[in-house]
Amino acid sequence: MSSSNAIGVFDSGLGGLSAVKEFLHLLPAEKIIYFGDTGRVPYGPRSREIIQRYAMQDTSFLLTHHVKMIVAACGTVSSVAGAMLEEKLPVPYTGVVNPTAYTAVRKTKNGKIGVIGTAATVNSHSYKLRLQKLDPAVQVFEQACPLFVSLVENGIIHRDDQITRLVVRRYMAELKDNGVDTVILGCTHFPLLREAISDYMGADVTLVDSGYETAGYAAKVLRENGLLNEDASPKQPEFFVSDTPEGFESVAGLFLGRDMKTTDKTEKENYLISIFGEQKLDGETDKIEVLTAGNFMKKRDHYYIGYKEYDEDDPQTCYNNLIKVEGDTVTINRKGPMRSQLMLQKGRRHQCIYQTIAGDLNIGVFTKTLDNRLGEKGGRLEVSYTLDFNTDLISENRFVITVEEKQDTVR
Ligand code: DGL
Repeated sequence: MSSSNAIGVFDSGLGGLSAVKEFLHLLPAEKIIYFGDTGRVPYGPRSREIIQRYAMQDTSFLLTHHVKMIVAACGTVSSVAGAMLEEKLPVPYTGVVNPTAYTAVRKTKNGKIGVIGTAATVNSHSYKLRLQKLDPAVQVFEQACPLFVSLVENGIIHRDDQITRLVVRRYMAELKDNGVDTVILGCTHFPLLREAISDYMGADVTLVDSGYETAGYAAKVLRENGLLNEDASPKQPEFFVSDTPEGFESVAGLFLGRDMKTTDKTEKENYLISIFGEQKLDGETDKIEVLTAGNFMKKRDHYYIGYKEYDEDDPQTCYNNLIKVEGDTVTINRKGPMRSQLMLQKGRRHQCIYQTIAGDLNIGVFTKTLDNRLGEKGGRLEVSYTLDFNTDLISENRFVITVEEKQDTVR
């Protein structure tokens, strides 16, 4: 892994940009690639299993950019999926919980610390456990503040805004009554409400910002691993979101405290490709959802979609997929530890080659429906088909691929 590779930072939405702001300030020579899963935010009310699955998908996406380190700039992911990511990722990883807890323990004078976060973060007690491990004498008061996330994602953050003040009072009253002198902003969305929270809690209560602490900790990890970029010239960050980029610039500008501008899109892998696949086999349905960066191009009447696909359970295993689409005909070439070549043509059956551990298999592929809505700038492709072996039905399959230009880069 080269020190010139980027640092991958991700969050369920735009909250992690509050950490990016600190990275840009502290480590201007580092290239940051940010992914915000705006299509699926919030993660906070979701189950452990779903948050872990999403976290694996988000990090697989960052790994397609060959990042040298991954930072979960999300209290929810750090709390619920942190241990799993630390174990599975092939690059150094940090979440926000440990660095933030460490600072809070050093800051408190009366030993009473408040923790605010999403429901998933608070229910995991991740901060509380960490704080009490660092100092068993501290008293920890936890409060879930799910509405804060919606306020921030919608830019309703001003200290004078009636709604903001009302929600802050509602959530913070108990912590205030308990006399905390330090509050951990345990969700990366919350630093944007810092002024409103501080107005209510009083200037003598210290607010600890998880993004700021994490950027400092990440710098330490990179230094210890010899991964700090030796080329000192300032780098431009790149931003990806899983939902449409509309509205991103204005809200992201708030987090970063700077204007967003566009740049050219001539570099490679400048499309966001999401794949939903489902396979019915022996009465059971298996589903996959993958989100990745890739290429898209039109050549005469053909469209080409190319992307790398990483194994969710083993991010070092990679497949190169190339999909050629022409009217009602789709060919899929998949190269990796196994190979396959599939021809899908509406209303027709083709013999296709599947490489398996047992050797090459000739599989029948009958295409039931094929809906091609690709255009100059991307679009959608949906295909349903059956697989058979010697005309015995193996499975019923369907996939939907959507292609869209990636979010612009910030200057
Ligand atoms: N930014 C996420 C966190 O730090 C919160 C948003 C969500 O619920 O997804 O916890």
